[in-house]
Amino acid sequence: MLGELEMVKAMLGGERRVVVLTGAGVSAESGVPTFRGRDGLWRHHRVEDLARPDAFAAHPERVWEFYNWRRRLVGGCEPNPAHMALAAMDRQIPNFLLITQNVDGLHTRAGSLRVLEMHGSLWQVRCTVCTHAREDFSELPDMPECPVCGHLLRPGVVWFGEPLTPGVLRLAVAEIGKADVFLSVGTSGLVQPAASFCQLAKEHGAVTVEINREPTPNTGLMDFALHGPAGDILPELAVGLGE
Ligand code: APR
Repeated sequence: MLGELEMVKAMLGGERRVVVLTGAGVSAESGVPTFRGRDGLWRHHRVEDLARPDAFAAHPERVWEFYNWRRRLVGGCEPNPAHMALAAMDRQIPNFLLITQNVDGLHTRAGSLRVLEMHGSLWQVRCTVCTHAREDFSELPDMPECPVCGHLLRPGVVWFGEPLTPGVLRLAVAEIGKADVFLSVGTSGLVQPAASFCQLAKEHGAVTVEINREPTPNTGLMDFALHGPAGDILPELAVGLGE
């Protein structure tokens, strides 16, 4: 009799449409702290209290200090076997989309091509006043200024209370609506809209799979729950796909 992992693996073959949602847990084994639980504090501040427009308006220097710290930290991290396995799936599964809530860019560094970064990227910066926006991997000053108009730049990430970039949610919902298999990897399932993607996938008839170190509020919606480190489970799912 096949185990759960073999059953999930069998469903990733053929012409099946696969959508994967990832969260901070997929980068945990690279050394990037997750948002909730014991990792979720930066110098006694909750991440949710920093990643918000009102915090940036009140204390831009503190919020930039946090993001510059995070850019340095992530810049020193490498993609782990979970990222590599998802990049391998991208190459081997014809109908595939990776939707990530992560802003660390590690999926792209691992070689994933079809990635939707729904919360933006640490490596994007944009002006708070004019339309200037750029990708920037360099060490930034404490309070970086726009080279066009001189006003303050901000990180190109989506903060709590901000809408997603237009089109991103529409694309994610459209692809989930067509998916045969929906994998939710390393996300606590607490932050909308991603938290509702599993329900959406199920309503449209997809087989739902959770890969997480522990159960989440969405576990009850899953057809399969594979509990363990993503860096162990995903390589087992990816090996031999497409052969
Ligand atoms: N393998 C698999 N799962 C893991 C691992 C691992 N090695 N390590 C941690 N996890 C799981 C945890 O059990 C938890 O369910 O990853 C999840 C991380 O949850 P969060 O820290 O809440 O991260 P995420 O779900 O991505 O948060 C969503 O919230 O703060 C905002 O915008 C931020 O994108 C983020 C969003």
